[in-house]
Amino acid sequence: MNNPIAGKGVLLTGGSRGLGRALGLALARAGARVVLVARHADVLDEVVAAIRAAGGEAHAVVADVADKDATTAIAGQAAAAVGPIDVLVNNASTLGPVPLRLLLDTDCEDLERALAVNLVGPFRLTKAIAGPMVLRGGGTIVNVTSDAATEAYERWGAYGASKAALEQLGRVWAAELAGTGVRVVNVDPGEMDTRMHADAIPDADRATLADPARVAAEIVALLQAEPGPAPGARVAIRTAPGAGASTEAAVAGASP
Ligand SMILES: NC(=O)c1ccc[n+]([C@@H]2O[C@H](COP(=O)([O-])OP(=O)(O)OC[C@H]3O[C@@H](n4cnc5c(N)ncnc54)[C@H](OP(=O)(O)O)[C@@H]3O)[C@@H](O)[C@H]2O)c1
Repeated sequence: MNNPIAGKGVLLTGGSRGLGRALGLALARAGARVVLVARHADVLDEVVAAIRAAGGEAHAVVADVADKDATTAIAGQAAAAVGPIDVLVNNASTLGPVPLRLLLDTDCEDLERALAVNLVGPFRLTKAIAGPMVLRGGGTIVNVTSDAATEAYERWGAYGASKAALEQLGRVWAAELAGTGVRVVNVDPGEMDTRMHADAIPDADRATLADPARVAAEIVALLQAEPGPAPGARVAIRTAPGAGASTEAAVAGASP
């Protein structure tokens, strides 16, 4: 079977838990050489150890994606570990303070922090990684977004605004990189059973939430698909919970 992920260098932020952890494991299982970024070394090292124990290749970079000065170090350490980056996944994210707050109660600094982690950090990393991808004539950048980017959920204003802006930058990146071989896509993973979800909605029925491992498998399949989603596409993954449930990925076409 054709496996375009095998041997590829993947830089994945937020790789220590939740979707990022599952995606790191799944990508490494598919033969990718993965570099995982997160702030807490101990949890990140556990994921790297699990991947290596399963025969995969993984490396840890401990950094805060919102730290301007960390961008060069992340890109440099990743390239030193696995060579050129073929796939960048901007997955690390923050909700801001929980319980989530109405906009009238949201401190400007909390909005700034959400934008720094969810928007500006991914922008800096994309700038650092997309240039070399253009020179090599190929690459894929995945922005992990949310339906809070498109729905006006009360109390999700700061997070939702950051994801809406991330998506729009993704579409503009895709338009500006047309013809270079570098593809940028926005992926909405749907509601998953992760710490972020528990922080946001502590009383949610976990049986209704998707297993991040199943969502990760869908994202790996997207990366392996030929030709795969169009540049600028918004892919909504809706993995139903429960054994035997169906999974659907709805792909919206590239924006004008
Ligand atoms: N869970 C859901 O239902 C859901 C729904 C829609 C969209 N999403 C999106 O899916 C993605 C994954 O979410 P998740 O639920 O897996 O989140 P999660 O369980 O909270 O995991 C977040 C990951 O990001 C890392 N991280 C957080 N802030 C960081 C920073 N400033 N710099 C570097 N790493 C950072 C965390 O590690 P450290 O804390 O060690 O840094 C952790 O590895 C996010 O983009 C989220 O917005 C989630």
